[in-house]
Amino acid sequence: MYSPADRARSLSGKPLGTIVKHDHKSIVKHFCICGELTEIRPLLRGHINDTYVLTTKKNKHIVRYILQRINHTVFKDPPSVMKNIIRVTEHIQSRMQRIDPDQASRQLTVIGTVDNTCFHKDADGSFWRVYNFIEDAVAYDTVDSADLAYEAARMFGWFQKMLVDLPGPALHESICDFHNTPKRFKTFQSVLKEDTCNRAKNAKPEIKYLFDNAPICDVLLNLAGKGKIPVRITHNDTKVNNVMLDKNTNKGVCVIDLDTVMPGLSIYDFGDMIRTGTTFAAEDERDLSKVAMNLPMFEVFVRGFAEQSSHFLTSTEKEHLAFAAKLITFEQLIRFLTDYLAGDIYYKVHREDHNLDRSRTQMKLVRSIVAQEEAMNEVIERIFQQVD
Ligand SMILES: Nc1ncnc2c1ncn2[C@@H]1O[C@H](COP(=O)(O)OP(=O)(O)O)[C@@H](O)[C@H]1O
Ligand SMILES: [Mg+2]
Repeated sequence: MYSPADRARSLSGKPLGTIVKHDHKSIVKHFCICGELTEIRPLLRGHINDTYVLTTKKNKHIVRYILQRINHTVFKDPPSVMKNIIRVTEHIQSRMQRIDPDQASRQLTVIGTVDNTCFHKDADGSFWRVYNFIEDAVAYDTVDSADLAYEAARMFGWFQKMLVDLPGPALHESICDFHNTPKRFKTFQSVLKEDTCNRAKNAKPEIKYLFDNAPICDVLLNLAGKGKIPVRITHNDTKVNNVMLDKNTNKGVCVIDLDTVMPGLSIYDFGDMIRTGTTFAAEDERDLSKVAMNLPMFEVFVRGFAEQSSHFLTSTEKEHLAFAAKLITFEQLIRFLTDYLAGDIYYKVHREDHNLDRSRTQMKLVRSIVAQEEAMNEVIERIFQQVD
């Protein structure tokens, strides 16, 4: 069977490369699942891992699971990623048993292998894991209502709240220097210097914008370095489709996609939520008049996040929430533009200048945030005062 990612690659017209046909049935045998396996169905969702739904049956009782092949091109050390996930899921599970036992069984749980480990490495070197299936829940791909934005923000705040007291040692850094903006800027500079694809000439205004705004890159890391902003545990992929909502009530059930959970700044999670959730335009929209940070939507995100996080965030963190939204968007601009100049190595492209288009939306979004930064800070102050 081809994996969903292989299929997506073939649909995108890019060469398939080496197709590994996985023997899913024998992979599943390594896990402690209950009953007889009746179906393995690829789930064509998500962009990183290959995800399948397993259905099992025991005495007419049907149980479903999620089987995932971890993308080890992105995550270089899957065993350490799994160690992080075990610590995080077990901690949330034990807190939920105490504070909300009804919802405890609806939290993400890693299903172990028959050898008592948390993943299986197959003969091709692929890493596999199994989770419980969160039943009667949905994950939406886009934020199309204020209620959904509120709930997503509340759940990412909740996730951080749940992990505030995770005992040490520090979690493994699943992607090194993930939000090291100064380092990403340096990479951009060296790629620009080489300009191997001779593309810099097409991106003059974007390149100038990066240099003009470079001083913002190290503001948050400097504050963290001085101990003024604490390093916490962050999700690092705070897109709405990583929150499962109850299908009947639309209330948040749990947060999924924990591969990028690692030590980081809480406000980065908030910032990326604003970057991805407050504009109604697609990340690669060519009509830039559609790209803007929507202030009423921003207010909804702040309200949801503040409800869960106001008691543990420090005043310095609160003061830098809007700044973090700007910085994370700027960082994404650096990443898209670097990839464009380097020849589209990291982000898949589906048309000419795709990464340049993506850079332009991010630049427009940074500008929109800059224009509204004062108003954003007023919203933050007002809402946190109401919640505190
Ligand atoms: N435990 C689960 N129960 C139900 N659905 C899930 C579960 N885990 C993932 N999914 C579904 O699969 C999709 C992709 O999974 P995710 O872990 O987010 O992978 P990716 O890293 O590829 O985005 C999710 O958006 C969700 O729809
Ligand atoms: Mg996901």
